[in-house]
Amino acid sequence: MQQVPFHFNASKNLEILSKTAFLTTHYAGKTNVMVTAWGALGVMWKLPVFVAMIRQSRYSYELIEKTREFTVTFPYTDLSKAAEVCGQSSGRDVDKLALTGLSTRPGRTITTPVLDVPGMHLECSVIYARLMSADKLNEAIQELWYDRQRNNYHAFFVSQILDSYITP
Ligand SMILES: Cc1cc2nc3c(=O)[nH]c(=O)nc-3n(C[C@H](O)[C@H](O)[C@H](O)COP(=O)(O)O)c2cc1C
Repeated sequence: MQQVPFHFNASKNLEILSKTAFLTTHYAGKTNVMVTAWGALGVMWKLPVFVAMIRQSRYSYELIEKTREFTVTFPYTDLSKAAEVCGQSSGRDVDKLALTGLSTRPGRTITTPVLDVPGMHLECSVIYARLMSADKLNEAIQELWYDRQRNNYHAFFVSQILDSYITP
């Protein structure tokens, strides 16, 4: 395990994120993993942040609302098989760790674990959450991403990155 600044490998990590990164949540002794390809890495209120964009319908949304924390993994190995499961089925219906064979290692600063895969991991604690509101949204984006999923807007979970590290 190598601790690194939150912006370490930023270009590589954002490239990975734009295709497939993983977001892990943990509640009541159970861990859930979803695929995420939308999000932002940056600085807000002088803090390193990751902004997760999670639709209200996701089980992950429910869990983050409860725990206010999650981890993000940018995998440095091919996880396309696991991504199929984690990006298409819901933790409400299945145990995705059992289905994929993915395992976890404990978080260092929060209760939520990180995926035990080669990659870079962020431990995130929500400091501000906001559901999108239709009246402030660009029309083209509304039409493209929300007209067919009415009332399934994303929430922006602005989260302080408490720890960031690479695992082999
Ligand atoms: C490539 C890819 C990227 C995705 N990115 C997001 C995302 O950024 N936000 C989101 O809410 N859902 C995203 N999804 C959908 C969720 O991963 C999917 O609905 C998942 O089943 C939710 O799991 P959950 O109900 O256990 O939270 C993505 C799916 C794929 C395949």
